[in-house]
Amino acid sequence: MLLCSIKSQQHRGVCLVFRDYVPELDLVAVCEGKMVGSIVYSKSKIDTSDGRTIDDVVTFGPLGVLPEYRNRGIAAKLVQESFRLAKDMGFRAVIIQGDPRLYGRLGFRCGEKYDLTNAEGQFSVCLMAYELYEGALKAAGGCFSESESFGYKEEALAEFDASFPAKEKGESAFQSEFGVLITLNYKKDPKYAV
Ligand SMILES: CC(C)(COP(=O)(O)OP(=O)(O)OC[C@H]1O[C@@H](n2cnc3c(N)ncnc32)[C@H](O)[C@@H]1OP(=O)(O)O)[C@@H](O)C(=O)NCCC(=O)NCCS
Repeated sequence: MLLCSIKSQQHRGVCLVFRDYVPELDLVAVCEGKMVGSIVYSKSKIDTSDGRTIDDVVTFGPLGVLPEYRNRGIAAKLVQESFRLAKDMGFRAVIIQGDPRLYGRLGFRCGEKYDLTNAEGQFSVCLMAYELYEGALKAAGGCFSESESFGYKEEALAEFDASFPAKEKGESAFQSEFGVLITLNYKKDPKYAV
């Protein structure tokens, strides 16, 4: 398996619809000459509790691997290599709203550990962070916001999808469960603080 920086104009065209897209971190995994996985990044920010804006943080999504190539470490390799590049580029952390069942295994910690809340100011089960160097998120607590490109409109997505050959849409049990987890916000309880 090879990890490559993406050069396909078509893929790059797709990614350019993301505001705050970071092309240097856009990687694809290639097996037997076929693109089997990809990871795409955008810039994000933290509005800290003491009034600063931290903008050297990034978020990835989507991360995807073709079904027949899953469970052989391809997503983990895409994540690890992009983290190495992000660190070299001077970013301090990767912060995502993702599934803790998956991203806990890839080294992410609960956002509460770093006093990070979502844009509504609440702690969230799915808000997770990975420091690219030790202490990177010390004194960085505050509200995390993804790029506005994550707030896409369903009609715009449907129109965009229609520009590709039709495919049957499906949702796995894992994805349905994530739909529940992402709604779980909470207030900090000192008894259970991480
Ligand atoms: C999620 C996805 C990217 C994982 O890709 P993959 O190449 O199979 O993942 P890896 O083989 O690198 O696995 C990395 C780790 O995550 C774990 N993992 C993989 N899929 C998982 C899942 N659905 N639930 C929980 N853990 C999972 C693996 O067990 C492994 O952990 P381990 O090293 O402790 O055993 C892939 O299943 C996919 O494309 N799914 C559809 C899109 C999606 O849900 N993307 C994530 C949200 S954007």
